[in-house]
Amino acid sequence: MQWAKLHSKARYNLATSGVGAYPLAELPFTRDQLEINGDNSYGYAPLQQAIAKKNDVEPACVVEAAGTSMANYLAMATLLDPGDEVLIEQPTYELIVSAAQYLQAKIARFPRREENNFALDPNEARRAVTPRTKLIVLTNLHNPSSVLTPESTLGEIGDIARSVNARVLVDEVYLDAVYENTPRSAFHLGDNFIVTNSLTKVYGLSGLRCGWILAQPDLARAMHQLNDLFAATPVYPTELLSVIAFQHLDKIRNRARQIVEADRALLAQFLDANKSHLTSVRSPYGTTTFPTLLRGNVADLLAKLRNQYETTVVPGRFFEMPDHFRIGMGVNTEMFAAGLHRLTRALH
Ligand SMILES: Cc1ncc(COP(=O)(O)O)c(C=O)c1O
Repeated sequence: MQWAKLHSKARYNLATSGVGAYPLAELPFTRDQLEINGDNSYGYAPLQQAIAKKNDVEPACVVEAAGTSMANYLAMATLLDPGDEVLIEQPTYELIVSAAQYLQAKIARFPRREENNFALDPNEARRAVTPRTKLIVLTNLHNPSSVLTPESTLGEIGDIARSVNARVLVDEVYLDAVYENTPRSAFHLGDNFIVTNSLTKVYGLSGLRCGWILAQPDLARAMHQLNDLFAATPVYPTELLSVIAFQHLDKIRNRARQIVEADRALLAQFLDANKSHLTSVRSPYGTTTFPTLLRGNVADLLAKLRNQYETTVVPGRFFEMPDHFRIGMGVNTEMFAAGLHRLTRALH
């Protein structure tokens, strides 16, 4: 996160993970719709309802949180005591592992193998689960590869968890970047599923920090209570803006979709043209891809890319795969094309 905040920016920034920022000027609202303080002790009811409606759940299952970041932390902090065993996919979003470490959980991993196209393989989870496992954690779409896990596989993971009385936490922050037949939330797959999400990555609304957890009502209440220690109450003005955003969600998503799809077409050409240097699992979904560098050293390549070509990508070491790097799409197609061109030159 520190690297992302301090070192990822460049003129040609392919080190992104979500789409470009949605401008406030394009959100239709008037000044009198905003206020600083309001009735939101355990969430602002209209926002709870908007989140519930989007996910087809009861408002009692919704816990607001400051982004998926706080949602993941609050969910894990509620579910895990020090020493509890948590089983996390590998590779994954680094902050999931470090949040579990901070909570002093005992961390076990199960692989998503590149030779298996980073697919989530229930057999790997079955091998790694123990009677002490409390929680299985995964991302869908997968960060870094953007691979989609089908509902049937998620159901198998749910069964494996249930067999040891564990729960499954699914981070769905990228799921709406499946633009056609967008899957429903894994929350619907059983009462041992907990889901986290936000309007950050697919909608370009990171600044609203509109995140949420979906959990069974008793767990949701426990999360609300724990949140009394952390954020206490949500930020009211951005709750109001988030309700307005929910009213225009399709339009907001479609704006970014056009950029993501144009970028994905360029990415395909780039990968085809650089087969002797790179190989990458290609997902038709999402905003990131995670190539392997076939020859040479990623750290050297990335230093050259930054220093000579003003271009950044995310080092694979943040995903425990140092011979990889992650490319992000969906911000600005002109910049993306120029960044890929520079990456090609650096590779050659
Ligand atoms: C899988 C995953 N979860 C959560 C986050 C953080 O989301 P937010 O900005 O909503 O806090 C990220 C950001 O990169 C992510 O990749």
